[in-house]
Amino acid sequence: MKLCIDDANVEKIRRIYDLYPVDGVSTNPSILARTGRKPYEILKEIRSIIGEEGELFVQAVSPDAEGMVEEARKIVSELGRTTLTKIPCVPQGFKAMKMLQAEGLRFIGTAIYTPMQGFLAAKCGAEYVAPYVNRIDNMGFDGVQVSKDIHDAIVRSGLDSGLLAASFKNSQQVLELVKYGVKAVTVAPDVIDGLVKNAAIDGAVAQFTEDFAGLVGEGRTMADC
Ligand code: G3P
Repeated sequence: MKLCIDDANVEKIRRIYDLYPVDGVSTNPSILARTGRKPYEILKEIRSIIGEEGELFVQAVSPDAEGMVEEARKIVSELGRTTLTKIPCVPQGFKAMKMLQAEGLRFIGTAIYTPMQGFLAAKCGAEYVAPYVNRIDNMGFDGVQVSKDIHDAIVRSGLDSGLLAASFKNSQQVLELVKYGVKAVTVAPDVIDGLVKNAAIDGAVAQFTEDFAGLVGEGRTMADC
């Protein structure tokens, strides 16, 4: 399962990449708008942090399929072949996906709130499909269950696609889909930090440090005793 960062803040991306086993960075137009910077300027900086092998996700905003395809061509030419264009799962988006598939450009289906959107995007050749877990929860439905349903439909249909589940607001939502074995999750930095934030873990590590200091002296480690 891949883990991506759902943010465009370069300081946060650097810190999370340094600490955790991260595979890429996803953005959307709202995330880019929060940086207040020029889109390709910030995206190239992100690319330089994650390297050529890191997957970078960038959303098209055109209202029609032809415009989305034109955006995808520019996104890849500016940001490299490991950049995937996020295409909203609306009627013009599905048309764009079929065109991108024919052209051999990589893309994912995004803005997914229902299982049928996810299934259709996978059928159009999307490498990933991105259900918005927390936003679905906020509508009074079960975002984790919708995501599992999409995963199951893809697997049972034998389609070559998988989830890039998105819009997480807590560890439990992430854990449920990690346990289910989805293809990828994209998670905001504060939620990634929360995955291992636990007083019991900190207490256990502090006790080990204190006990070892009692044995060999304060500040000494296995490297210098
Ligand atoms: O990038 C798409 C998705 O992750 C949006 O998340 O936090 O705006 O619901 P959020």
